[in-house]
Amino acid sequence: MEGRNIPVAVAGAFRDAFAGEPSGVWSAPGRVNLIGEHTDYNRGLCLPVAIPHRTYVAARPRKDRRVRILSLQVPGERTISLDGLLSGNRGGWAAYAVGVLWALEQAGHRIGGVDLVVDGRVPLGSGLSSSAALECAVALAAVDLFRLDGFHGDEGRRALAGVCVRAENDVAGAPTGGMDQSASLLARRDTALLLDFDGDVAPRHVSFDLAAHGLSLLVMNTRAVHSLDDGQYGNRREECAAAVGELGLGSLRDVAPADLDLALRRLSSDLLRRRVRHVVTEVDRVTRTVAALVADDFAALSELFAHSHASMRDDFEISSAELDTAVETAISAGALAARMTGGGFGGSAIAIVPSSGVDDISSAVANAFSAKGFREPELFPVRADGPARRER
Ligand code: GLA
Repeated sequence: MEGRNIPVAVAGAFRDAFAGEPSGVWSAPGRVNLIGEHTDYNRGLCLPVAIPHRTYVAARPRKDRRVRILSLQVPGERTISLDGLLSGNRGGWAAYAVGVLWALEQAGHRIGGVDLVVDGRVPLGSGLSSSAALECAVALAAVDLFRLDGFHGDEGRRALAGVCVRAENDVAGAPTGGMDQSASLLARRDTALLLDFDGDVAPRHVSFDLAAHGLSLLVMNTRAVHSLDDGQYGNRREECAAAVGELGLGSLRDVAPADLDLALRRLSSDLLRRRVRHVVTEVDRVTRTVAALVADDFAALSELFAHSHASMRDDFEISSAELDTAVETAISAGALAARMTGGGFGGSAIAIVPSSGVDDISSAVANAFSAKGFREPELFPVRADGPARRER
């Protein structure tokens, strides 16, 4: 896609900004989630794939404890002291990067200052996990630069994902679960990653080679505002916690699909009933989606995506007019399956489409957006990509 020259260009930008060579360049991908939304913090299942859009970081250690950081997308250089960093110390986009260094120190690792140049190629605020991509690229750079133990192999990368989640929750102030960071660090090419957040379960890699079926995964970024630290995402999390409290359970994962009606009757409000119904049925849909993928059953997949979208629109109430329009238009224009993806309240939707129909379906969605006076959407097919890596 965007070319192998990005790491070279980022190293060049580092030289221009800080004089001298960076020690290396690292990258980490954004993600789309095939299914399983707002399930991660409910100890549920989800099924993300990494996308080819990445955040690149050129880095070099410093002798002091300062972090100098600049982004090729945001004007201005910042200098932040590692010693001044406290939990809850929000510093805009840079908090996602510096927060990772803070979280590594909190976990007992020896970290020093660092010079960083960031080139974020995951569209910002698109619901495609630009923040997790930044965290994971910085985390991988820190592991190499400071020769940190315990973060190699799949096990190590799972631990590193935990560090990145802590940075996002405690420093950046976004109360997210762990799906995005796990996807960015553990995904594999042409596979979807089945994540189970109920305890220490190893992820499973599920073949997801749409091209072999003449199909493509179309990302539909509505470009409608999406943010995970403005309270709405946190509200959903609190509502789920309130339901868990009323039910006297450890988590919503403890509600078996067969016992859903019983659990719903025990809840005090219709709102909590709808939230719980979404989470419990969504976790079940992840299991069914994996079975459908293994069986190449795209008709079943179509139904599962449709139910998932309806559940997010009506029960969890995280969709938007733009997301609904993208999904409905893609389906009427010939997509096999479509749903919104990620945290919601704006952001992106996905569709599985015949590869020969990518252009027509994209035009149909763009036309529908224009007819409704929405911002022009960003539409692009993606192939499931590999995880965060050292580039040079
Ligand atoms: C965001 C969060 C994830 C997850 C999704 C919804 O992407 O970062 O942890 O909760 O929303 O599935």
